[in-house]
Amino acid sequence: MSTPQGRPKAGEPLPEGTREARGESMSTPQGRPKAGEPLPEGTREARGESMSTPQGRPKAGEPQQTSNSLLAVRDVQSGYGAMQVLWGVDLDVAAGETVLLLGANSAGKSTLLRTLIGLLPCWRGSISFEGERIDAWAPDQRIRRGIAFMSELGVFPSLSIDENIALGGYFLPDAKVRQRKERLFQLFPDLAAKHRDAAGTLSGGQRKMLGIAKVLVAEPKLLLMDEPSSGLAPVFVKQVIQVLKTSIGHGTSLLIAEQNVAFLELADCGYLIDHGRVKLSGTRAELEASDAVRETYFGL
Ligand SMILES: Nc1ncnc2c1ncn2[C@@H]1O[C@H](COP(=O)(O)OP(=O)(O)O)[C@@H](O)[C@H]1O
Ligand SMILES: [Mg+2]
Repeated sequence: MSTPQGRPKAGEPLPEGTREARGESMSTPQGRPKAGEPLPEGTREARGESMSTPQGRPKAGEPQQTSNSLLAVRDVQSGYGAMQVLWGVDLDVAAGETVLLLGANSAGKSTLLRTLIGLLPCWRGSISFEGERIDAWAPDQRIRRGIAFMSELGVFPSLSIDENIALGGYFLPDAKVRQRKERLFQLFPDLAAKHRDAAGTLSGGQRKMLGIAKVLVAEPKLLLMDEPSSGLAPVFVKQVIQVLKTSIGHGTSLLIAEQNVAFLELADCGYLIDHGRVKLSGTRAELEASDAVRETYFGL
């Protein structure tokens, strides 16, 4: 596998530095602890930073308030059958922003992403996209509206590279898919060379690249990525990060679920999720400085 030689085409500037750090201060969660349960604060010491309790943030159920807010998640509860996994998650993604959802194994990251795309029902709370409630919408409606989901597997191994990409562009006219595929193949030369081969014949790293190409072909407004690093050796993780840096255009916001803190490099801000609750949120710098993040995740 090689790193993509292609750079964004002329007129497609790098996303570097284009995403403004959000002006919010680091905050403890507004997820409501149960009665009698202590607030999960004190997760970091005062170090002169602006960690604060969440004031002035929207209450559960209220739509997002900031003008550039793309996704607003309020008090979301979800799970499987009788088993509740998410216990009132609040999270925002602004337009053009990359948000990292950090959490250990079984924290509830995949459950949250599945709930956001509509593969799992939202039991309580609300999900708003561009100001509109979408939590009762079917997944295909959310996809048509501009949300894409890259699962941990990312691709269909038995389908060819071309077919996987065609699926990613399922809701688009064929001509548009072909045109965008050509552009993506410049970014992913390994895929171009094997475009008729089954995805299952690709290396782990190449499969991730295909997974990324498959979701990028739709040019989504919001891309939900579930553990793009999973199953990859560190050298390939670096390549995935590099590819995301160079291939994500201005128009796409990202919500990346990860256990690997290396992805903080891409993030404007992030959330630490633990046992289905937001434990901590803040800007990249705040999370990098956070004891909770450092203690839990560095050295993974
Ligand atoms: N399909 C499923 N059916 C039942 N329980 C599940 C399913 N998927 C995940 N879980 C459970 O939900 C909890 C959160 O899992 P998950 O969202 O996959 O965490 P993460 O993605 O952060 O590793 C875990 O306790 C896990 O065992
Ligand atoms: Mg997961």
